Amino acid sequence: MNRKIIIAIDGYSACGKSTLARQLAKSLHYTYVDSGAMYRAITLYFIRHQISYNEANHISVALQGISLEFRQNENTGNSDIWLNGENVEKRIREIDIAEKVSEVAAIPQVRKLAEKCQRDMGKNKGIVMDGRDIGTVVFPHAELKLFMTADMATRVQRRYEEMKEKKGNVSLEEIRKNIEERDYLDTHRKISPLKQASDAILLDNTHLTKEEQLDFALALAKKVIDGILT
Ligand code: CDP
Repeated sequence: MNRKIIIAIDGYSACGKSTLARQLAKSLHYTYVDSGAMYRAITLYFIRHQISYNEANHISVALQGISLEFRQNENTGNSDIWLNGENVEKRIREIDIAEKVSEVAAIPQVRKLAEKCQRDMGKNKGIVMDGRDIGTVVFPHAELKLFMTADMATRVQRRYEEMKEKKGNVSLEEIRKNIEERDYLDTHRKISPLKQASDAILLDNTHLTKEEQLDFALALAKKVIDGILT
């Protein structure tokens, strides 16, 4: 299993993309990149600096002031996103960021910046990246593409549990509203909208355990790496 590939995982909000991407990266000793964290961190910067989303000049100047990096967290073993030298991994999961991120992610200059970083990170392959446009725009030639979904009630419940664990005080209804809004904005934006690439494999994990979804994806990845599946 020496050939390194790129695995692109796209799909709707809160359907378990990052869980699967992290599992796959761990099993294959690949790097996991959470592209959504980049859009969330940029959103945090825009909120803090009160950047107006409609002013192209302000946006360009603001983006010059942003430095993003992923650093390994020794305690969790995951990689956290840092914004201008500050670990913002926890902060960007809060609901105020979720409420604004899809608007920020639709801004052309924002996407250009994030996509460039994402392509650089994939230069040497051996990477699992999840997002909305990874298999369609960022890595259209990724060797393995998955498109994930799950039914709405399951996604809302999963995100609710996740936020409760992190001590977030958000209701099921707020989460449902946010997920529905983001699904709409992400699938309807002009640039790089969320859609299934024609060569992506659909994975509906509504009734799958974490282990089952990993087994499914890992079997595919191994076949691709071994050249059995193209
Ligand atoms: O974890 P969750 O599914 O809630 O979302 P995320 O992956 O953290 O992404 C947050 C938001 O960033 C999405 O709703 C999109 O608006 C945007 N995003 C994007 O436009 N393109 C990507 N490749 C990744 C995220």
